[in-house]
Amino acid sequence: MIILGIETSCDETSIGIIKGRRILSNIIYSQDIIHQSFGGIVPELASREHLKKILPIFQEALSRASISIDAIDAIGVTNSPGLKGSLIIGISFAAGLAYSLEKPLYFVDHLYGHIASNFIKNVKFPCLGLVVSGGHTSLFYIKNHVDFELVGRTLDDACGEAFDKVARILKLPYPGGPYLEKLACEGNEKKIDFPRPYLHGSLNFSFSGIKTAVFYHVKKEGLENKADVAASFQKTITDTIIKKMSMALEKYPVQNFLFGGGVIQNQYIRDRLREHFEKRNIKILIPEKNLCMDNGAMAGIFTYFLIKYKIPPSPYTIKVIPTKLVNIH
Ligand code: KG4
Ligand code: ZN
Repeated sequence: MIILGIETSCDETSIGIIKGRRILSNIIYSQDIIHQSFGGIVPELASREHLKKILPIFQEALSRASISIDAIDAIGVTNSPGLKGSLIIGISFAAGLAYSLEKPLYFVDHLYGHIASNFIKNVKFPCLGLVVSGGHTSLFYIKNHVDFELVGRTLDDACGEAFDKVARILKLPYPGGPYLEKLACEGNEKKIDFPRPYLHGSLNFSFSGIKTAVFYHVKKEGLENKADVAASFQKTITDTIIKKMSMALEKYPVQNFLFGGGVIQNQYIRDRLREHFEKRNIKILIPEKNLCMDNGAMAGIFTYFLIKYKIPPSPYTIKVIPTKLVNIH
C-alpha cells in the first residue's frame, strides 16, 4: 500500500510517500528564511508560500520515491491544529487529488503525526508520548497506534515557544531553538539556577515563568554571560521534562516513552532523556532529526495505521480545525 502524507499546518510545506511503514521519500521545504526578518511566522505569507510550493514538492516527492501518480493508494493530510490558511492549502490539495484519483482521504491530527514518526519501529503499548514543539507541549497516554488520550499539556507557552522567546531575549535569530542550542554548548549550565515549574501533583507543564526569569536575569546582568544563560535555560527545561515524565511514569507504568516535535531535534535533550530513562529500563523512542520537524511522512505513517485499524476515510471536504478552536475543546 502506497500512501501520500501532506503537511502544511505551519511554516513547512512537506509531502512524504510511504510504502507500508517504509519511507520512500519525504520532501520538506522550510519557510524559515521568509519569516526570519519578522521574528516570527506571518500567517498570510505562510499560506501564500505553501500555495507556491505544494505542486513542485508533490512532483519531487513522486520522483524521489520513483513512483507515478497512479500508484498512490490513499492520501493523509494534517487538518488540525495549525494556522487556518496554511491548513486550507494542504487540505484543498489533498482533497482535490484524492477526489480526482478516486482514492480515500484521511485527516490527521498534527500532534498524533509527530508521535507516529516513531511507528516505523515496533512499539510496546500502552506507552506514553510527549510532543514538544513550537506550538504545543502535549503528553499522551497511548493505548494503540490510533488511540491517544491527552493527560497533560502546557498551561501557557509551548516549550519551543519558550526557546524562541528566550533566544529573542538573547538577541539570536528566529527560530531560536537551534541557535540557542549552539550557544549553550559554550556555556556553563550550572551557573544560573532558574525556577523549575514542577506544578506539584499535575502532569501539566508551564514554561512562561522560566522565560520571565531569563528576561529579568538579562535585564539585571546584561548579555555578557549569554552562553551561560542559554545552557542554564536548556538544562532547566530538560530537568522539567524529565521530572514530568517521571511523574507520568508513576501514574502510568509503561515500558516505552515516545517523543516527537521540533524541540526534540535538540541533541542535549535527546542525550539526557536517553541517559535518564534507559538507566531505569524504559525504552526511549526518538525519531531521526528530520522526522522530528514538521514533515509529510508522519501524516502518511499515521494514515497507514488509520487504514490498518479500519477507521473510515473522511469525505472529500475541506474540514479545517485551526489551533484556537482545538484549544477550546
Ligand atoms: O514541530 P515544529 O517543527 O513545529 C511546530 O509544530 O511547532 O517545532 C518548531 C519548534 C520551534 O520553536 C523551534 O525553535 C524548535 O522547534 N526547535 C528547537 C530546536 N530545533 C527546533 N528547539 C530547541 N533546540 C533545537 N535544536
Ligand atoms: Zn509540529
